[in-house]
Amino acid sequence: MVTVRKGADKIMIFESHAHYDDEAFDEDREELLGSLPEKGIDTVINVGASLESCRKTIALTERYSFLYGAVGVHPSETGELDEKSFQWLKGCCGLRKVAAVGEIGLDYHWKEPAPDIQKMWFERQLEMAEETGLPVIIHSRDAAKDTLDLMKNAHAEKIGGVIHCFSYTKEIAEEYLNMGFYFGIGGVITFPNARKLKEAVACIPMDRILLETDSPYLAPQPNRGKRNSSLNLPAIAGEIAALKGISPEEVYAVTHENAEKLFRLK
Ligand code: NI
Repeated sequence: MVTVRKGADKIMIFESHAHYDDEAFDEDREELLGSLPEKGIDTVINVGASLESCRKTIALTERYSFLYGAVGVHPSETGELDEKSFQWLKGCCGLRKVAAVGEIGLDYHWKEPAPDIQKMWFERQLEMAEETGLPVIIHSRDAAKDTLDLMKNAHAEKIGGVIHCFSYTKEIAEEYLNMGFYFGIGGVITFPNARKLKEAVACIPMDRILLETDSPYLAPQPNRGKRNSSLNLPAIAGEIAALKGISPEEVYAVTHENAEKLFRLK
């Protein structure tokens, strides 16, 4: 759906969080990625989650001009980190098309590895972002208090970034707003039981919202449970537009500008 705006400007959609390195895309990755620009998705941030996915992410940034990378190790994968691999990761932060450190954070839904290990590598990766001048992409699940405490200690307001797949209350959103953070809003906003998230999004100003899918995960309604891709972004934008009482075109335009600003792509 290449949509044309009044005045004939083509709509441009910024996908701020996808995992196209995932094996779910092995069958048709080239075809799918190649088709995104003509469908209006003109920029993609492919987000690393393990050392291997960071390697694959960097390869994708070299192949697709519209795709940028984030390098970082997801809390559930931090068991694989050691000094040597951490130094390699840090070196990747200097690559021209690496735009962020992520996804990093805490995941207590799966307490593997133990919270102390997760916390240590979260701190180290926050430091890495500060030292290399990159914003962060935060993953936080069932760990609201520890994530916030650790980020405050690390002065994350000086680093900047986005809370990916924001899933906490509007009170927690307030804390991150005060730190200058952005909020990644994805398919969950379309779920019928997303009342708490809808309340939070109603309180978050548009200039702090980014569009994301987390593909291949978290497909919006009516595709819930199926493989997700950036082609589903209009369903998410439509829901945000309805909540905010604005047009989807406005959602595309504002979130595009927000993401360019955060990832310094202008
Ligand atoms: Ni993700």
